[in-house]
Amino acid sequence: MNKKFYVTTPIYYVNDIPHIGHAYTTVAADILARHNRLLGREVFFLTGTDEHGQKVEKAAKEKGRSPKEHADLMVQNFKTLWTGLNISNDSFIRTTDDAHIKTVQGLLQMLWDRGEIEKREYAGWYCTPDERFWTEKDLIDGNCPDCGRPVEQIREENYFFLMSKYQQRLIDYIEKNAHYILPETRRNEVLGFLGNNALGDLCISRPKQRLSWGIPLPFDDNFVTYVWFDALVNYFSATRYLAPHAEKAREGDFWWPAEHHLVGKDILTTHAVYWSTMLMALDLPLPKNIFAHGWWTIQGKKMSKSLGNVVDPNAIIAKYGADAFRYFLFREVPFGLDGDFSEEALVNRINTDLANDLGNLLSRFLTMAEKYYAGQIPLLFGTSTTASNDLARACINEAGHIIDEDNFTYWSHLRFNIILDHIWGIIGAANNFIASQEPWKLLKSNPQRLETVMFSLWNALRLSAIFLAPFMPETAEKIWQQIGCKKTMLDEISESRFRSGEQKHPDIFGWEWQPHYEVKVSKGDQLFPRIEKKKEQEKTEPQKKPDIQQTAQENLISIQDFMKVELKIGKVLSAERVKKSEKLLKLQVDTGEMRQIVAGIGKAYGPEDLVGRKIVVVTNLQPAKLMGNESNGMLLAATGPDGVPVVLTPEKDVEEGSKIK
Ligand code: MSP
Repeated sequence: MNKKFYVTTPIYYVNDIPHIGHAYTTVAADILARHNRLLGREVFFLTGTDEHGQKVEKAAKEKGRSPKEHADLMVQNFKTLWTGLNISNDSFIRTTDDAHIKTVQGLLQMLWDRGEIEKREYAGWYCTPDERFWTEKDLIDGNCPDCGRPVEQIREENYFFLMSKYQQRLIDYIEKNAHYILPETRRNEVLGFLGNNALGDLCISRPKQRLSWGIPLPFDDNFVTYVWFDALVNYFSATRYLAPHAEKAREGDFWWPAEHHLVGKDILTTHAVYWSTMLMALDLPLPKNIFAHGWWTIQGKKMSKSLGNVVDPNAIIAKYGADAFRYFLFREVPFGLDGDFSEEALVNRINTDLANDLGNLLSRFLTMAEKYYAGQIPLLFGTSTTASNDLARACINEAGHIIDEDNFTYWSHLRFNIILDHIWGIIGAANNFIASQEPWKLLKSNPQRLETVMFSLWNALRLSAIFLAPFMPETAEKIWQQIGCKKTMLDEISESRFRSGEQKHPDIFGWEWQPHYEVKVSKGDQLFPRIEKKKEQEKTEPQKKPDIQQTAQENLISIQDFMKVELKIGKVLSAERVKKSEKLLKLQVDTGEMRQIVAGIGKAYGPEDLVGRKIVVVTNLQPAKLMGNESNGMLLAATGPDGVPVVLTPEKDVEEGSKIK
């Protein structure tokens, strides 16, 4: 097992206040960091702020501050949010740190000395807010293809990193390393882009007369460094002055390369292409993985100040608590896909998953434990309880999924929602177990069985707490304490690991672990009190239910009718928007044979979200024409929150063309 684990978030621009998008990546990195600490790895979890460049200079000027003064103030917003969200970062890098600036300059000098950087005259279309040059063919209606704002023609001398020569090497690298860019759809996009376009060289300087707020080039003081060339280096520079054992990192490769760079899909190219080629030119190893997650929208719309729909994570935490928010973000939407945020969906998750399933389980167990045993739970170890009950078997089975002995598939692929599904498998099994065993009847009829039942519930809660800890650290610790474990979870786990020697997994992750002391449970406050929905919602709900039941009754069909529908797994090979339609996407799908499907999911998904994905297709529908495009079949989607379609995907990889029965 690799003993070290280094994970990063993007460094956030200080021109803005943090929103749910920033919170998302940082909580994801926190989950990974906490999980790896529990496994006994030494972790370096880095986040920070990106403080140079035009955007910050401009924002500071508007406020009448110097850029550094502005950054010093704004950086606090991020630090406060990370405290509120229980983020366990080991370091916080600011690109205005002296040591970072020196590292950037050192690397630039190295590239200059090696002939990897050249000075050239350059003319191109420049987008000032994005600080990017574009070629004529990139422009959309003469505007910036990224932000849609006008561009200006600029001619000037600049320094270029000779990125183009690494194109083939990068393609080969990505092809050989399936795990390098995840999810797979994003990897295919990057490969598609590199395969179809000639990679240019990268302009890495800005003349000082145009922009002074940046790191001066070490070999030409008339220029500052392009903000991305400065920012990307943070991942490396931090290992050498901020990380634990930084002195070792300076001498060798203690932390580098990182295990995961977590980024949003919008900044995948800068990471997958700029950063990878920079590292190649520097002869440094590439990170093990770059994971691009999707975006949160609000009622299907991009969050933006002008629409006034930006979600402030501080307000959500104040209202619902950090753990509920963290849970929601990673249970609701598979990491990698876009998702729609709504308070209503969050409240539903709190009431059903957290208050009902988890909270009730704990409080029912504790009430019974206090009533039957004055809190002193009999700890029965050995195989007897395992062999004798469904709950033990369910827990062992779910734990096997969560901690996959071979390669931590779900963890290494960041399938957080699936891991949470398996944890809820344990919680659900425990609730069913109470219902089926009716412990309140056993006190008189079979006290021995009652001991087994109560011990099994205790153990299921203990395992749930351990597996939940990366996602909901405060809640997990509360459960841990209330079920009578005396030390903090981390201490208990380290001790157990110490006791079990160099085993692959400390036995505390399994059913048979036992504490070396008497366990006395103590009931604390309710974990998640139910949140009363607004009056209007309450009024509408009871009316809705009979309607649904009635429709279901009337619509019953026979199995023969159902068998007429042919359903198959398809793989989306390419996708594009249907011109002049907001809603329609045209997909080329392999369902064992090639077919074109036109689907009305374009408000919820972009073509890039679908390419490479496996979907469920009705393959024997009569062809139809939608806005002039023939559609041969229909993909299946559920109606998600706010009526937004959610495309169905098989839980495990299944060959395209497989029949669904
Ligand atoms: N400073 C650069 C990153 C440099 S990393 C070497 C930057 N900063 S940012 O503050 O604009 O964005 C940071 C992250 O927030 C990006 O990963 C971006 O994808 C993410 N998000 C911004 N809005 C988002 C949503 N609405 N939803 C999810 N994440 C989003 O880019």
